Amino acid sequence: MSGQIKKGTVLSALMWAASELRTAGIESSRLDSELLLSEVLGLSRVQLYINYDRPMNQDEKERFLALIKRRQKREPVAYILGRKEFFSLQFYVDRNVLIPRPETECMVEWILSNAGLNEESRLIDVGTGSGCIAVSVLRNSSVREIFVSDISQEALAVAERNLKILCPDKKYFAIRSSLFENVRDSGYDLIVSNPPYIRTELLKSLSPDITEFEPRIALDGGRDGNEIILRLIEESHRYLRDKGLLVFEHSEEFGLREDILRDRFGVVFLGRDYSGRPRFTVLKKL
Ligand SMILES: C[S@@+](CC[C@H](N)C(=O)[O-])C[C@H]1O[C@@H](n2cnc3c(N)ncnc32)[C@H](O)[C@@H]1O
Repeated sequence: MSGQIKKGTVLSALMWAASELRTAGIESSRLDSELLLSEVLGLSRVQLYINYDRPMNQDEKERFLALIKRRQKREPVAYILGRKEFFSLQFYVDRNVLIPRPETECMVEWILSNAGLNEESRLIDVGTGSGCIAVSVLRNSSVREIFVSDISQEALAVAERNLKILCPDKKYFAIRSSLFENVRDSGYDLIVSNPPYIRTELLKSLSPDITEFEPRIALDGGRDGNEIILRLIEESHRYLRDKGLLVFEHSEEFGLREDILRDRFGVVFLGRDYSGRPRFTVLKKL
């Protein structure tokens, strides 16, 4: 343990941790140190600032050191803390699910403002992961129930945990399925999905925080990144009611070709993320 953490005030511990993380190549070294120290001390980040001179006891120092060691090995803060904020809600996350990304909030916002949801709306979230999309829609609309599916049983367990805690008054049905393979009902008003869409080749170049910790099945979209998306569009048609909506996230390179739509779908909207990049598409069944 270094001299700085031995001295043991909040400020010295933060300075030591930020320097350790910076050396490990972590750009958000200060922020991450603050988040992890907040966790250990049970203080908010603002409270850390007004407690810079607060001494830390041995137990606190050891627990902080253990968390910093995990982050040094590039484990994302969300997995270390076991939670991630999405749409102003705290989601339980572990290594079985993708950490919810802010860009996905843009798709949820569009759905809540434009999809005309009501109590009777029938929705399915395909590839639900942590359940962040399903929960955010249920919590912020009058929709009473939702179907969620995922190819990963472990991911489904995380989604169910979040749905149970965050939507106690709503109904959900969870089904393990590769896309629609095990989905029996059809006539959905809305199908939403954030499928894996990174080109296999590109995966190697991503940060170790992602490649070494997040599930590959949540990321890998095949050779051109669009394998799951194209299957999703193809299969969705059968499961939507007439004029039902398919809303899906994709990479900024994704382009819709006429042979994908084939008079079966009309394009309703091309959505952008917070950085202004094309990020999701809304199709309507014709
Ligand atoms: C990019 S993650 C999205 C998770 C979550 N919906 C979100 O927005 O954070 C993609 C999810 O799709 C699931 N998945 C991958 N292939 C699938 C398939 N063929 N059928 C159903 N789900 C699949 C993965 O297990 C993962 O949970």
